Amino acid sequence: RDSKLQLVVSHIRAFPDFPKKGIVFRDICPLLKDAAALSAVIDLFEDHVRINYQQVDLIVGLDARGFLFGPLLAQRLGVGFVLVRKKGKLPGATVAVTYDLEYGTAEAEIQEDAVAPGQKVLLIDDLLATGGTLYAACQLMRKQQAEVLGCLVVIELKELQGVDKLKPQRVFSLVQY
Ligand code: PRP
Ligand code: HPA
Repeated sequence: RDSKLQLVVSHIRAFPDFPKKGIVFRDICPLLKDAAALSAVIDLFEDHVRINYQQVDLIVGLDARGFLFGPLLAQRLGVGFVLVRKKGKLPGATVAVTYDLEYGTAEAEIQEDAVAPGQKVLLIDDLLATGGTLYAACQLMRKQQAEVLGCLVVIELKELQGVDKLKPQRVFSLVQY
């Protein structure tokens, strides 16, 4: 577990002042480019889920970088994957909520039939900053009466206190800054 975590940490880069001055951008591109490091991410998530949750019906991924990890984890667990998208991208009947970002505001949307009442879901994204994005996704799940078991992220930016915003939801992160 420790060597897998080290592999993950060593494939995350920091870019100061991107996309705005004062923000240190954590870049996961090296993590995706390296097959062993990407496998390590999914291994660590899979272990966490198998140890902590008896039944998971769906993995719900957040636009856009949650889509990079969510389907890989869903396949490992043998469950389906659902997309929470930025507004205007999904066809058919949808449900939307507005939320604040670390830099800007946005709207998150799911298809009305994406999750069924009572389904147990885990949310996944690359990074937790203020928690606004995952909070919005939780609201969408609540609207559709799905049960959120918890949130999974590769990276948690601790100073932005996203974990507090998401309480009482549980957040599992692989790497913290
Ligand atoms: C980033 C990141 C998370 C979110 C975290 O996505 O991938 O989804 O911000 O921030 P928060 O915890 O303050 O809500 P971004 O909105 O930049 O969109 P992208 O994935 O489409 O680049
Ligand atoms: N890195 C990558 N994505 C992000 C960040 C960050 O620091 N903050 C919000 N989204």
